[in-house]
Amino acid sequence: MSVVGIDFGSLHSKIGVARHRGIDIITNEVSNRATPSLVSFGPKQRALGESAKTQEISNFRNTVGSLKRLLGRTLHDVEIQQVEKGFTHVNLLDVDGSVGAQVNYLGEPTAFSATQLVGMYLGRLRDIAMKELKIGVSDVVIAIPGWYTDVQRRALLNAAAIAGLNPLRLIPDHTAVAFGYGITKSDLPDPENPRHVVFVDIGHSSMSVAVVAFSKGQLTVKSTAYDTHLGGRDIDYALVRHFAEEFKTKYKIDVLSNPKATFRLYSATEKLKKILSANAEAPLSVESIMNDVDASSRLTREQYEQLIVDLLDRIPAPLQRALEESGLSIEQIDAIELVGGSTRVPAVRAKIQSVFPSKPLSTTLNQDEACARGSTFACATLSPVFRVRDFAIHDIAVNPIKVSWEKSLADEEEDTELIVFPRGNGIPSTKVLTFYRKAPFDVEAVYAEPSGLPGSINPWIGRLTVKEVGPSPTGDYSTVRVKARLNLHGILSFEAVYTEEIEEKEEMQVDGESTEPPKKKKVVKKNAVPYVAGYGGLDSSVVDKYREKELTMHANDKLVQDTEERKNALEEYIYDMRSKLEDRYAPFVQPQERDALLAELSKNEDWLYSEEGEDATKSAYVSRFDAAKKLGDPITTRWREAEERPRAAAQLRETINQYISQATSTEERFAHIDEKDKQSVVEKAVTIQKWLEDQSVRQAERPKNVDPVLTAAEIGKKRDEVIYFATPILTRPKPKPPKVDGAETPRSGAETPNPPPKPETPQPELRTEETQGPPEMDVD
Ligand SMILES: Nc1ncnc2c1ncn2[C@@H]1O[C@H](COP(=O)(O)OP(=O)(O)OP(=O)(O)O)[C@@H](O)[C@H]1O
Ligand SMILES: [Mg+2]
Repeated sequence: MSVVGIDFGSLHSKIGVARHRGIDIITNEVSNRATPSLVSFGPKQRALGESAKTQEISNFRNTVGSLKRLLGRTLHDVEIQQVEKGFTHVNLLDVDGSVGAQVNYLGEPTAFSATQLVGMYLGRLRDIAMKELKIGVSDVVIAIPGWYTDVQRRALLNAAAIAGLNPLRLIPDHTAVAFGYGITKSDLPDPENPRHVVFVDIGHSSMSVAVVAFSKGQLTVKSTAYDTHLGGRDIDYALVRHFAEEFKTKYKIDVLSNPKATFRLYSATEKLKKILSANAEAPLSVESIMNDVDASSRLTREQYEQLIVDLLDRIPAPLQRALEESGLSIEQIDAIELVGGSTRVPAVRAKIQSVFPSKPLSTTLNQDEACARGSTFACATLSPVFRVRDFAIHDIAVNPIKVSWEKSLADEEEDTELIVFPRGNGIPSTKVLTFYRKAPFDVEAVYAEPSGLPGSINPWIGRLTVKEVGPSPTGDYSTVRVKARLNLHGILSFEAVYTEEIEEKEEMQVDGESTEPPKKKKVVKKNAVPYVAGYGGLDSSVVDKYREKELTMHANDKLVQDTEERKNALEEYIYDMRSKLEDRYAPFVQPQERDALLAELSKNEDWLYSEEGEDATKSAYVSRFDAAKKLGDPITTRWREAEERPRAAAQLRETINQYISQATSTEERFAHIDEKDKQSVVEKAVTIQKWLEDQSVRQAERPKNVDPVLTAAEIGKKRDEVIYFATPILTRPKPKPPKVDGAETPRSGAETPNPPPKPETPQPELRTEETQGPPEMDVD
């Protein structure tokens, strides 16, 4: 079973895996520790992650990024229309009520919802983890922005299901970071006097702040605050606009009118931005940006900070909000921990510092990987695979949730709504709501403060229809209880509906002689009431359909990749064999074999570069490869045998000599072995030795370019034969000294029989490992 944590970032994602000795952030197929959060579509296959990045510029109309920003949104969301559209060149459209992308896939215009796109991307992360762990990957913890609402979280769970993943928890980024921070600390104070840490994460697209209290064995999130549009991409955009403006007059080009030129400028400004994090001035140069213009410029840090001043000025607000809501004063804050790539910008740090003038900013965590590490720790805690040090997470809800209902006719005074999970309510949490009803009724759950939600996300969360409610047996109102749960993912669901009946039961008399009347005991009887509940997110039948589709696309990608590999294998074989026939294989081939093989290789080479061979099926490449290999294999085998045979023969001779010398030895450790048995070992060894010498002579008489009569494998088998014959005899234990009746049991320290001699020849090894429960994971 896998233990995996994913930091799903808007620019790129990181994957952690838990192992016995701790957590590793793993690398992808090109050895990067971060995988671009991109999916791309082509005429033959999809490109996901790293390969999507490679073709981002050439295939920009079909390459989708900002996956995390699109997920769970509708097309008409103001943030999609006004912000995200500016960061993509893909045509966004509506797919079943949510935003999706229209791309050209397998030569056809195809629409995919953001949920499907994230599913594809998570599938790639799963494959990366599977390749690393060499086992199936299902259980994961995925980090999400703390500001994700119910519908966004559900969309991520749907996407994970499409990818065949089973999220044990969706964890807010800052909570994951805090968990990774806390679980590795062994010096945390007692709960009365906790350590308060402010985590500030500024990544590629958003900023989050969390004030967290740590004490022995637990963390408590005290408050959170966000700016959902403040990150590296906003800095990049400000720089791109600046240079685009400059190049208008300098080179008379309009960069922003040309998507490829815009991409080139973006990547140059990102480089420039990073240089400016460590230098006072930096050059910018973009070769052939457009219209054959080589553009160049410079920027000083001062100019840079001026260009992003609006962004910088927004940094203090979330920090102040979080601090205020935590109820703590600056003096009570023990540390300020920075994570996320954009906290490397000195001006960003200075702004953070301005809110906490007296406190040093600390970067003890790995800024880029702390979130993935924390998520992986969280997965390890929830999975049965490892035992992990107990460390509790007390997380909180960001947006208050209320339920509302229609007024019951009987009670004009009745409220019609109630905040069930206020802001700051613990997660997970279950609450039981009580209704007095004589008839079926509906309950609706919504976010109580729609203005606090990102973009134009619909505050609606879900609806519960309680069926089959009637008057109580006494004709009165039935007491109907509804269980609402904010689960570990931070998602609301109605988990049970039941009526309660109070029954009075007589207690049983024990002795039967009491004159008192029998005591009555009140028993609450729960009767389940049927209900249906509906929420945002996809219906399970739709998820299944998308999962099927994903499997088909995945299989197609794999087939395309395998075909490519088989094609390369055929090509490689042609060139490899040709050169080896001139060289190492030359003595091992007969002239007519050589001619036949070379002809076959040329035939395949011509075919490969023909129209048919350029784009053929996997089986066509495989059958041609197999046919050529059939001609080449005898030659390869003769050469390999000639290399390996002398080694095998030398090994066998050494083994034989060792046994003969042991069997004829006068050493004490062999003294107890029967002479007859020792003799049989010698005979066996001599027979095999004779076989080897006879066969070696036969082989030596043959020319090199015919098939051998003696193979290394045969020699190896003979070696096994002598080992299995001789080892049991030569390692036979010494008999125990005979017991004498009435003799005292030897005290400790008394002489005990010698242990059996250690075998000197290799023996098949058998190890048993005893394990009790899951192994403990090293968290330090
Ligand atoms: N040395 C640096 N100086 C300035 N910016 C940097 C530096 N290193 C990385 N960045 C920026 O940090 C951002 C990436 O940070 P990070 O990996 O934390 O983002 P993410 O997790 O993908 O995004 P988010 O958390 O917002 O979804 C990019 O915009 C990148 O350009
Ligand atoms: Mg991030």
